[in-house]
Amino acid sequence: MIESILSQFEISGAFVKAEKWGTGLINDTWLCEYFEGETARRYILQRLNPGVFALPVQVMENIRTVTDHMVRRLAAAGVVDPQQQVLSLIPAVTGHPYVLDASGGAWRATHFIESCSVYDIVSSPDLAREIGRGLGRFQALVSDLQPRLLHDTLPSFHNTPYYLREFDEALKKDIRSRAAEVRPEVEFVNRRRRTASLLMDRLDSGRIPLRVVHNDPKANNVLISDLTGKAVCMIDLDTVKPGIVHFDFGDCVRSACNPAGEDAKHFGDIRIDPDLFAALAEGYLGEAAIFLTPDETELLALSPKVITYELGLRFLADYLRGDTYFKTTSPAQNLHRARVQLLLLEDMERAAPQMAAIIKKNMT
Ligand SMILES: Nc1ncnc2c1ncn2[C@@H]1O[C@H](COP(=O)(O)OP(=O)(O)O)[C@@H](O)[C@H]1O
Ligand SMILES: [Mg+2]
Repeated sequence: MIESILSQFEISGAFVKAEKWGTGLINDTWLCEYFEGETARRYILQRLNPGVFALPVQVMENIRTVTDHMVRRLAAAGVVDPQQQVLSLIPAVTGHPYVLDASGGAWRATHFIESCSVYDIVSSPDLAREIGRGLGRFQALVSDLQPRLLHDTLPSFHNTPYYLREFDEALKKDIRSRAAEVRPEVEFVNRRRRTASLLMDRLDSGRIPLRVVHNDPKANNVLISDLTGKAVCMIDLDTVKPGIVHFDFGDCVRSACNPAGEDAKHFGDIRIDPDLFAALAEGYLGEAAIFLTPDETELLALSPKVITYELGLRFLADYLRGDTYFKTTSPAQNLHRARVQLLLLEDMERAAPQMAAIIKKNMT
């Protein structure tokens, strides 16, 4: 199977072997080795998860638009081996950026970027700085790419007011009779309803622009060089589409700067770590300040709050609906996840002046 899929990509040389690779939770990934004369070459082959991506062709077209653009920019800047500096696709023999198998599954091949690792947990400010730098560099490289060239593969994604309406609906219907049990959480959400529109209002009024963004900027989607410890590039571009930089920055902070994690066992451990935040913001702005407008930069400080609010209310809504969206392994898991996010939000509210001061410091 793997060999027959590989033969449909423009890969030259002799196939040596393919082995399962990485710890990604979404797609199936293989590392594939070829020999071209004396030279060993490695490629990543992935099958897109059909349960997650309903529009694989559009997803792959977006990835091609973005990766071609980044490779062109690096080549124009004189980088000799752009394929080792950013994710770059190998076209199929048909010319498409993907191969479809008999069951309609979409496959893609990319150059393997050598001597890199990914980290699930951000355990030091040095790593947080590199995660921020990887995100900032990615956004900077696509900052001159027209968002309208990309498909909207995930309509309503990160539209916080939309998620709030869905939450209201789930609460009203209360089909599992869980509303009474979550009254304190519902009150917490309701007291902060304004938070939902803080970013989208600015986009709608034109104060901040639509750009090309990553949309899944978790720590383990930044390749870190084993040789230098520096960020090389972002991977996992399935969710790339038009959006605002704030959801990328905010989500990166939300996931990388709370050492207790999304499934924190002890509520007392949940917090935004100020040293991790300061380092991540410094790394990010070191790369992104060049293209961000002053309004965009200023709003970065509150973006982690908005996205944390969004995720908290999505978990809570799913709990009220009877766990139909987020997979659970125990009965009250979505309620627990909602509580983790709402507690993190509370800590972010407490740390807001400090976070704003850190962003301001990095603006000058
Ligand atoms: N071009 C690449 N070069 C090197 N390693 C890669 C490359 N693409 C993916 N990987 C590795 O494969 C893993 C899974 O890839 P990813 O695209 O993040 O899939 P998932 O959606 O499953 O997280 C990554 O964590 C990384 O270790
Ligand atoms: Mg990944």
